[in-house]
Amino acid sequence: MLALIDPPMAPTSFIIIAIDGGAASGKSSSSKILADRFNLLHVDTGSFYRHITYELLRMGVAHTDLPAINAALATLVFTTRLNGRSAQMLIGGKPAGSEIRGQNVNEHVSHYAAIPEVRHALLGYQRGLVDVAKAHAFRGLVMEGRDIGSVIFPDADFRFFLHADPAERAKRRANEGQTDSIAERDRIDSSRKASPLTCPTGAISIDTTSLPLAQVVEQAATLIAGKIG
Ligand code: DC
Repeated sequence: MLALIDPPMAPTSFIIIAIDGGAASGKSSSSKILADRFNLLHVDTGSFYRHITYELLRMGVAHTDLPAINAALATLVFTTRLNGRSAQMLIGGKPAGSEIRGQNVNEHVSHYAAIPEVRHALLGYQRGLVDVAKAHAFRGLVMEGRDIGSVIFPDADFRFFLHADPAERAKRRANEGQTDSIAERDRIDSSRKASPLTCPTGAISIDTTSLPLAQVVEQAATLIAGKIG
């Protein structure tokens, strides 16, 4: 008589998904849903640049004063706390407050994010979140930002680039009750020398202008499920 043996488990390799795009292109909503669906650690790197910007503004460090920026960056200690499936970056043990979504940070963040030293200060921290995700038994990590598929994880299993018409994106922000100069931030983020916002070669580009969120997620999820089951 044949013994019934359970089939071997599918290999469980860790997956990395990079989602880049401009403000209000649908990155955050879709990344969070993908994180829930596939048990991934969700990482919003925009919140890291916002948190650093808030700190530097609070310390009175102008984005034009590089020596002061370097001195201030040397004092900042980044650690991580989980908030559900999302990684929250603490600076000096403190989480970011709601101010990082306020008008002052909206106006300044692109200037600080364009500084190579600021980007360098976050590079190792962002890559190190793979270890955090593994330590908490996540199946993988979905990281959203501007340079994730180009600089942080160019070898990610999946790289998506979301974009939408500027008018539609401005409407989305207004519906959230936010004052945000999206076009101006895009201009600075795309034209800076250090890791500019761009669709990396080989990334999957999705126009979300008239695509409902559920369909954006479905497009990405179908590809991911095809790989990991
Ligand atoms: O995703 P967001 O709009 O919250 O990002 C705020 C700013 O941070 C954005 O204007 C550019 C910068 N940013 C960046 O330069 N690189 C990233 N990986 C994420 C955000």
